[in-house]
Amino acid sequence: AELLAFWAITGYLLGAIPFGIVTARVLGLGDLRQIGSGNIGATNVLRTGSKLGAALTLIGDAGKAGAAVLLARALAAEDAAQIAGFAAFLGHCYPIWLKFKGGKGVATFFGLLFALAWPIGVAAGATWLAAAAIFRFSSLAALLTAVMTPLWIILMGFNSLFLLSLCLTGVIYWRHRENIIRLIRGQESKIGQK
Ligand code: G3P
Repeated sequence: AELLAFWAITGYLLGAIPFGIVTARVLGLGDLRQIGSGNIGATNVLRTGSKLGAALTLIGDAGKAGAAVLLARALAAEDAAQIAGFAAFLGHCYPIWLKFKGGKGVATFFGLLFALAWPIGVAAGATWLAAAAIFRFSSLAALLTAVMTPLWIILMGFNSLFLLSLCLTGVIYWRHRENIIRLIRGQESKIGQK
C-alpha cells in the first residue's frame, strides 16, 4: 500500500508540470490565461498561432502521463502503473503549483492510454482525429472520444482498464463543462481559431 501511495504521489507531481505554460513562456507566446479559453492545454496554445508551441505542449503533457505509467510499470507493477497514470492525469487537471487550476486532461488521457495499452491509445486517437476532422471543435472531439473509449476498451478486451476509463471520462466531462455550454450555445471556437 505504501508503494501505491508512492506511485500516486510521483504520478501526481509529474502530471502537475504544466507544459503549456512552460512552452508559452519559453516561446514568448504570452499568458495562456488571457488567451482564448484561458486553458493551459495544446488547443489553447494553438490559438496563439504557434503550431510548434501546440505540438510541444501536446508532446509534453501526453509524455508526462506516459512516463508516469512506464516508470511505475518498470519499477513496480501494473496496478502501480494505472495509479501513476491516473494520478498524472489528476495532477494535470488539479496542479498544486497553479492553485489546483489546471487543464482538461485530454493530452494526459492519450499519454496514459498509449502507455497502458497502445491499441486503446490508437483507437482513442483515431476517434479524436475523426471527430476533429468532421466537427472542427477540439472540445467536442475530446468529449466524443471520452465517451467512446470505455466502449473500445470492452470491445477490444482490455477489461482491466474499464473502471479507470470511466473515471477518466467522468473527470474529462467535468473539466469541459464550460466547453459543453459553449457548444450548446454555438459559441465554441473551432480548432485554430481565436
Ligand atoms: O484539450 C482541451 C480541449 O478539449 C479544449 O480546450 O482550450 O478549447 O477549452 P479549450
